[in-house]
Amino acid sequence: MKVLVVGGGGREHAIIKKLKESKKVSKIYALPGNGGIAADAECVDIGAKEIDRIADFAAKNDIDLAVVAPDDPLVLGAVDALKAKGIKTFGPDRRAAIIEGSKAFSKDLMKKYNIPTAAYETFSEAEEALRYVENCPVPVVVKADGLALGKGVIIAETREEAVNAVKTIMEDRIFGDSGSKVVIEEFLTGPEVSVLSFTDGKTIVPMVSSMDHKRALDGDKGLNTGGMGTVAPNPYYTPEIALQCMETIFRPTIDAMNKEGRTFSGCLYFGLMLTEKGPKVIEYNCRFGDPETQVVLPLLESDLADIMLSIYEGKLDEAEVRFADKSAACVVMASEGYPSKYETGFEITMPEDKNIYVAGAKLKDGRLVTAGGRVLGVTETAETLAEAIDKAYQTVKTISFENAYYRTDIGKRALMAERK
Ligand code: AMP
Ligand code: GLY
Repeated sequence: MKVLVVGGGGREHAIIKKLKESKKVSKIYALPGNGGIAADAECVDIGAKEIDRIADFAAKNDIDLAVVAPDDPLVLGAVDALKAKGIKTFGPDRRAAIIEGSKAFSKDLMKKYNIPTAAYETFSEAEEALRYVENCPVPVVVKADGLALGKGVIIAETREEAVNAVKTIMEDRIFGDSGSKVVIEEFLTGPEVSVLSFTDGKTIVPMVSSMDHKRALDGDKGLNTGGMGTVAPNPYYTPEIALQCMETIFRPTIDAMNKEGRTFSGCLYFGLMLTEKGPKVIEYNCRFGDPETQVVLPLLESDLADIMLSIYEGKLDEAEVRFADKSAACVVMASEGYPSKYETGFEITMPEDKNIYVAGAKLKDGRLVTAGGRVLGVTETAETLAEAIDKAYQTVKTISFENAYYRTDIGKRALMAERK
C-alpha cells in the first residue's frame, strides 16, 4: 500500500512511524514532512494547505490511503478534494471539520444536544461583547471563533483583562479573521483529560486517554504553548468517568453531527475538564492532538492502516483496536525562548533506534538542524508511568542541540494523582 500523510510535525511523525509498522504499507510520502520525518518517509515539497496540489499528487502517484492530519487543511476541505479524485482518505470532510473550525458552531451544537460544556455567549460585535464583560463574573474565558494555532483562548482573571481580550481579538484582530466572532464562556476548574477517538460516524472507539502539559515552564507556569509533553493513560480518567463520557459526551456528539448532516469520520479529539459537576467539553478537535498522539499511538498494538481503511469504508465495528496495558511519557525538547523568540539552525545529535518524533527540524548539507520552537518529542513506554517518565528523561539526556529546553516535571502531577 502507498500511503500519503499531510503535515510536517511531531504528530505526523508519530502517525508515520506507526503506519510503517504495518506489513501492508510499502511506501509513505509526507507532504511536506520535515528533516526528521525524512528518515521514515519520502518528503515532498507540497505545503499542508496546498489542497489542489495534494489531491493531484495523490492521483498521479496511485495513493491507496491519504491521511490528513493538521486542522488547517481539514477545515479547508482537503479530504473533500482527495475523495473527489477517488482517493481513500482518513479525516473528516469540510462540513464535519467545522466542529473545530468554529467554536461558535461547536458550542451551539453542545447546547442544542445537551452535551455538557461551559455556559457561554457568542458575539459578532465588539461593542456587545464589551458590554457583556462589564457585568459577567470573572475569571472568564474569551475565545476567538476560528482557528488560531491553539492560541485563541484568553483566560481573563479580571474585568480589565477581559476587556483587553475582547479588544485584541475583535478590534486589533491578533488572530486575523478568526476573531470576527468571539465566544465568552464560564471559567471551569478541574483536571484536564484528552481523549482521542476513532470514529466512522456510526461506531466510536476511544483511544487510551492522555494528559497534555500546555504551559512552557515547570510547575505549569509561563506562557501557553502547543504542548510541552504528555503522558498516557491519564490517571484522573477512571473507568467510571470513561463510561460517563461515552454516555453523556462521545456518543451524543457523534449522533448530533449525524443529525446535523455533518457525519464525522476520522479522529475526533475531546478536550475534557473533570469538574465537580461531572466531565465537560472544553474543546473538540477534528484531528489527532499534538503531542497527545506521541504517547497514544506508541501504545496502539493494532494495525493503524487497517483501522484507517475500515473507517473509510464505514466498518470500524469490524476493526481491531487494541492498546497495550502500559504507560507512555513524551517529553518535548524545544528551542530556548519558545513560544516567544528563539534561535534555530543548531545541529541535532540523537540516537536512531528510539521513539523520537521530530517537529521543528530540517536537513542542511545532510545534517539535521533545529528549525522551529518545538524541535522534537521523546517518547518511552513502560509497565508503569513512573518508569516511562524515567526512561524518557534518560533518552532526553542522549540528545543534544544548542539552546535545548525542556520541562523537567512532565508527568509529575499524574504520578501524584496515581498515588492518591
Ligand atoms: P482550548 O484551545 O479551547 O483547548 O483552550 C486552551 C486551554 O484553555 C484549555 O486546555 C484549558 O486549560 C483552558 N480553558 C479553555 N476553556 C476553559 C474554560 N471554560 N474554563 C477554564 N479553562 C479553560
Ligand atoms: N494538544 C492539544 C491540541 O492538539 O490541540
